[in-house]
Amino acid sequence: MNSLMLNTDGVQIPQLGYGVWQVPADEAAQAVTTALKAGYRHVDTAAAYGNEEGVGQAVRESELPRRKLFVTTKLWNADHGRAEAAFDESLARLGLDYVDLFLIHWPVPQQDKYVQAWKAIEKIYRDGRAKAIGTSNFTIAHLTRLMNETDIVPSINQIELHPYLQQREMRAFHEANGILTEAWSPLGQGQGLLDDPALAKLSDKCGKTPAQIVLRWHLQLGHVAIPKSANPARIAENIGVFDFILDAEDMAAIGAMNRGQRIGPDPDTFDLT
Ligand code: A2P
Repeated sequence: MNSLMLNTDGVQIPQLGYGVWQVPADEAAQAVTTALKAGYRHVDTAAAYGNEEGVGQAVRESELPRRKLFVTTKLWNADHGRAEAAFDESLARLGLDYVDLFLIHWPVPQQDKYVQAWKAIEKIYRDGRAKAIGTSNFTIAHLTRLMNETDIVPSINQIELHPYLQQREMRAFHEANGILTEAWSPLGQGQGLLDDPALAKLSDKCGKTPAQIVLRWHLQLGHVAIPKSANPARIAENIGVFDFILDAEDMAAIGAMNRGQRIGPDPDTFDLT
């Protein structure tokens, strides 16, 4: 498993993680156990997913030492004004002493509390209870404000990112500021994208599935990617991406698929609490 270095001293993140958005609470422990057995060492959950208990259970009950696993969770929108208490609740649900990465899930600019939330999260980081801290769904404007008004640059920004929404400006901004890019819905949520004829062509050429082609594209661009699947065969398929390489022509063919097409909410306006 490839790992990338975060801007936090010594912290490495496995480049491919297992995402558990929409994995029901009562299936999460089993799903994460399947993923760990398939070789994943990084699990991405959130308070809002309602499945932190199951994720924590699988992590605690696995035979793997805690330091070999990377666990991310996120602060929900309703909790920007009580980030430390919400973090403690997440940690208790997970049943862990620390998380590897704690993210602000959405900026919710209407609330205007994400700077306050970040300052509380900086303290959690300094206390060692989150080994690294970052953001999710932040735009350039939100990140710029955070960097101007607080001390610690986010180590990572997790954004919707797939061949139909390539986010070139965001990625360049991240790179210029030492922030890693993490892709949520890296497969564009499956339907549609994975049936694209351009991917079928690369699939035939490389002898890999369309999902594997897309995940390989993310890895070669230096993204962290967290594909979600509830299906054991696809969980295993999605980690089978370390034994082939896309050449420059293949990468360009995927680069040409960009449509600027968002599936999820707009980060500037999303304020579901
Ligand atoms: P399933 O859970 O039945 O496998 P994303 O991570 O981009 O949000 O995509 C998740 C969606 O893509 C889920 O609906 C998931 O369905 C589907 N999916 C995940 N992996 C694959 C794969 N290898 N091939 C086809 N569909 C997949």
